[in-house]
Amino acid sequence: MKHHIRIAPPGPKASRIIEITKKHTYDSTFVYPLVIKGGHDCVIEDVDGNEFLDFTSNVGSCPLGYSHPEILQVLKEYSNNGAHKIAGQDFYSEEHAALAERLVSILPRGFKVFLINSGAEAVENSIKIAYRKMGPLPGVSCKNAFHGRTLGALTFTSSKPVQKTNFPELPVLRIKFCITDDDPEINSAENILKENKVAFIISETVQGEGGYSIASKKFIQNLRKLATKYGVPLILDEVQSGLGHTGKWWAFEHYGVEPDIMSMAKALQVGATGFRVELEPTEKGVISSTWGGGARIDMAVGAKTIQVIEKEKLLENAIKMGTVLKNGISELCGKNGIEDVRGIGLMIGIECQSKERRDAVLLSMFRHGILALGAGQKAIRIIPPLIINEEQVNEGISVIHESCSAL
Ligand SMILES: Cc1ncc(COP(=O)(O)O)c(C=O)c1O
Repeated sequence: MKHHIRIAPPGPKASRIIEITKKHTYDSTFVYPLVIKGGHDCVIEDVDGNEFLDFTSNVGSCPLGYSHPEILQVLKEYSNNGAHKIAGQDFYSEEHAALAERLVSILPRGFKVFLINSGAEAVENSIKIAYRKMGPLPGVSCKNAFHGRTLGALTFTSSKPVQKTNFPELPVLRIKFCITDDDPEINSAENILKENKVAFIISETVQGEGGYSIASKKFIQNLRKLATKYGVPLILDEVQSGLGHTGKWWAFEHYGVEPDIMSMAKALQVGATGFRVELEPTEKGVISSTWGGGARIDMAVGAKTIQVIEKEKLLENAIKMGTVLKNGISELCGKNGIEDVRGIGLMIGIECQSKERRDAVLLSMFRHGILALGAGQKAIRIIPPLIINEEQVNEGISVIHESCSAL
């Protein structure tokens, strides 16, 4: 709502910071002139005193919003501890052990984890574990997938050509990411597996960057069956969907399957590769990372985040609020340039009729004090913090309606 906006963004402070940033850094994928200063609850404040209701949770990285008392307490406890960024691959820490223990408690039985920095690194280590077992064979990945942008992970990403042009690739075989059970290509992985030796199959269950598309149940269940039948590890990428945004800890739980290897990050604050214990490399040093679990403070926040999601029943809240949000936005379907509204829990995609229309809606929402981001070619991604309440959800719905119908 406009009442959050004191100065039409970008205000003077934001303009100055953006100018310096553009002068000295690569102009990355900035969407609108938001310069973050702080936040509270589900609200992000900019440097000019504007307040925005956050429907991005920083792409799922801030599931508890910006002032959860238990997270603030962790930050306080670490404020006098200088030994926060440690070589966590070489030295042990209590935070590393505590996060691993908590994480394993919500993973499929028989999994171990390896803590690293980012989502892309979690994918890198997932594919390394698979290559180590299977050899340097092609990997199977989906069209429109996003698995990160480091060079190894980037091969298996295919959401946008700009991310890949002129960059060399590992061997890869691509299949369609099927969103309906009756898709004629639902079983196309089998043709590939019959004719080729492969190292792994990697997929998201909800494509994030690719446009918030939700895999058909049969498609994911087929991948699981085929991976087992052909003795190939199935890697499921939970970097964006994991830790509760779909209303379950892991999006694959909606499909009644378990992966052999999985990648996690974002809400966890650090990256993590999970793997069946049988796949653990037997020699030391096979997989690695620059900083182990990132910083000790991040690992401590990650562990606390899992604990709070459990304690405050935020998985249930994701389902409840997600239903209200999806129903409210769905009223726009077929009107005002909105073609489709889809989602699971608090991961909701709004498909617009064109990229231009999508960008205009995002900008209008921003000017009305609601933050959302794009995904895919022409979708809006809605992924609010898990703590969002009904009043905030309704505020978001009315701004989305206003923004779509005003254009
Ligand atoms: C499904 C998925 N995998 C991997 C990544 C890469 O994660 P990061 O940006 O932490 O490297 C992302 C990031 O958006 C993602 O959504």
